[in-house]
Amino acid sequence: MPKSRLTRRRLLAAAAPLAAAPLVGRFALDEGAGAAGVRHAGHAASGHAAMIGETVPAVGGPHDLDELLYPPPALPYQPGRVREYRLVARDVELEIAPGVFFPAWTYNGTVPGPVIRATEDDLLRVRFLNAGSHPHTIHFHGIHPAGMDGVFEIVGPGEELTYEFPAKPYGMHLYHCHATPLKKHIHKGLYGAFIIDPPEPRPPAQELVMVMNGYDTDGDGSNNFYTVNGRSFYYAKHPIRVSRSQTVRIYLANLTEFDLVNSFHLHADFFRYYPTGSVMQCQGQRGILEIEFSNTGTFMFHAHQSEFAELGWMGYFNVVD
Ligand code: CU
Ligand code: CU
Repeated sequence: MPKSRLTRRRLLAAAAPLAAAPLVGRFALDEGAGAAGVRHAGHAASGHAAMIGETVPAVGGPHDLDELLYPPPALPYQPGRVREYRLVARDVELEIAPGVFFPAWTYNGTVPGPVIRATEDDLLRVRFLNAGSHPHTIHFHGIHPAGMDGVFEIVGPGEELTYEFPAKPYGMHLYHCHATPLKKHIHKGLYGAFIIDPPEPRPPAQELVMVMNGYDTDGDGSNNFYTVNGRSFYYAKHPIRVSRSQTVRIYLANLTEFDLVNSFHLHADFFRYYPTGSVMQCQGQRGILEIEFSNTGTFMFHAHQSEFAELGWMGYFNVVD
């Protein structure tokens, strides 16, 4: 609701030492205006257009997030190849904006977690150690046997589990913890990008990974900060260098909790888009889904708004031969 948003912003303005002028200006606008006025003023005076370069209030140096932005290279299919990753769940206090800390639950110490990449039909082997304070799992989007789904096989603190399955189908996927309460485990930061390449890799491109997320830093159930790859305004402070006329390929995933949608918009150019995985429908919208199940076992289906899933929009397929 607009009212609680105002309160939240006011709180933020007081609590967060975001010294940069554009932000302060925006909070000040919000302060005085009524609910309708805020939206108007915020839109008209969106000072972030001027935010570029070193003065932007973002945490860290120019290469801090390289491992999250630049995926490992695509490899052509080769029979029998094993792709191994090791993920360790850890509780970490992350500075997501200058002076703003978030008590994250992470895979390997970052939010999002590391980029996992394999070629279709590589054997993916992910060793998962839970060094955190809560039970966790890794649930991969994509095709895999029931016992590798990360829903029922809960890994307690100090425990370990190895996920192993042939990577498929090719496309842009993601992984996240599927322990309950789901909303909390996702919002805390347990997710990352999962790229599966076609047997013959896509044409060469400048490849980037962008995982969109949000952080609720005051515990009121709505986000106070939004980022790609984990830090507020990071790519405003450190613009991503790309070459003109060479394809830029962005592997994009949305892990924003609390808000039902997020979006990616590019200025001054257009892009081609290849969606995978989930579908969205507004009321009255409809379509036909056809599936050939690859494995037997019990598989969950649910709205990918965690809140909807937890409030009833969740069920299982029991797949038999
Ligand atoms: Cu978890
Ligand atoms: Cu999911």
